[in-house]
Amino acid sequence: MVLTAEERRKLDETDDTLFYLQPRLVTHVDQLFIWQLTNLYRQYLRPEMVILDLMSSWVSHLPKEVKYARVEGHGLNAEELAHNPQLDRFFVQNLNQNQHLPYEDATFDAVLNTVSVQYLQYPEAVFREIARILKPGGIAIVSFSNRMFFTKAIQAWINASEKERVELVKSYFADSGMFGEPEVIARPSWFSDPFYAVIARRK
Ligand SMILES: C[S@@+](CC[C@H](N)C(=O)[O-])C[C@H]1O[C@@H](n2cnc3c(N)ncnc32)[C@H](O)[C@@H]1O
Repeated sequence: MVLTAEERRKLDETDDTLFYLQPRLVTHVDQLFIWQLTNLYRQYLRPEMVILDLMSSWVSHLPKEVKYARVEGHGLNAEELAHNPQLDRFFVQNLNQNQHLPYEDATFDAVLNTVSVQYLQYPEAVFREIARILKPGGIAIVSFSNRMFFTKAIQAWINASEKERVELVKSYFADSGMFGEPEVIARPSWFSDPFYAVIARRK
C-alpha cells in the first residue's frame, strides 16, 4: 500500500456524492492547461481507440476533429456527464466506496483521468483496476494541476509539493506492478495553471 490511513483522509469526510449533487458546468483549469492536454491527446491517442474518461464531467478535452472508436465516461454527476458531447456512454460510481470498474479485462486502449486523481482515497485499488481493463500496451494518462476542491482532496495530496505529487502518481502506477516506467510531463508555471501529466503503458 502506498498511503497510510491518515494520508487517505479528507477535511470533508461526508459522502462525495453529496458534494457533486449539483452539476458544475464549468472548466476546472485554464485554457492554456486545456490546450496542452488536448495536444497531448492528439499525440498519444488514435481514432481507432476505445477510451475511458474516468472521473469525467461535461468536457473530456479530447480533440474535436477526431472521432474515436468509442469513448466511455465515468463520474459522480449524471447531468454533467449527459452534457458531455464526446461520450458515447457513461456510468456514475463513487470510487471511494467501490473501486471495481464494471468492465471486462482488456476492454480499453486508453484510460484518461483529468484533474481528479487527488480525490481518490484508495488510488492503489483504482490503478489496479485501470490496469486490468486496459489492453496490453494500452495507455493511461493522468493529468493534474495545482487547483483542487481543497476539502475533498486527500491529505497526502494537500501536504505534497507539485514535484511530490508527480512522485505520488508514479507510485500509484508502480504499486499495481502492471505498468511500465511512466513518462512525466512537468510544466510548472507562475502565470497560468501548471501542467502535469504522468503517462504509463500497461505491460
Ligand atoms: C475537478 S472535476 C474534473 C472533471 C473532469 N475530469 C474535467 O477535466 O473537467 C473532478 C471530478 O472527479 C470526479 N470525482 C470526484 N470524487 C469522486 C469519487 N469519490 N468517485 C468518483 N468520481 C469522483 C467527479 O466526476 C468530478 O467531476
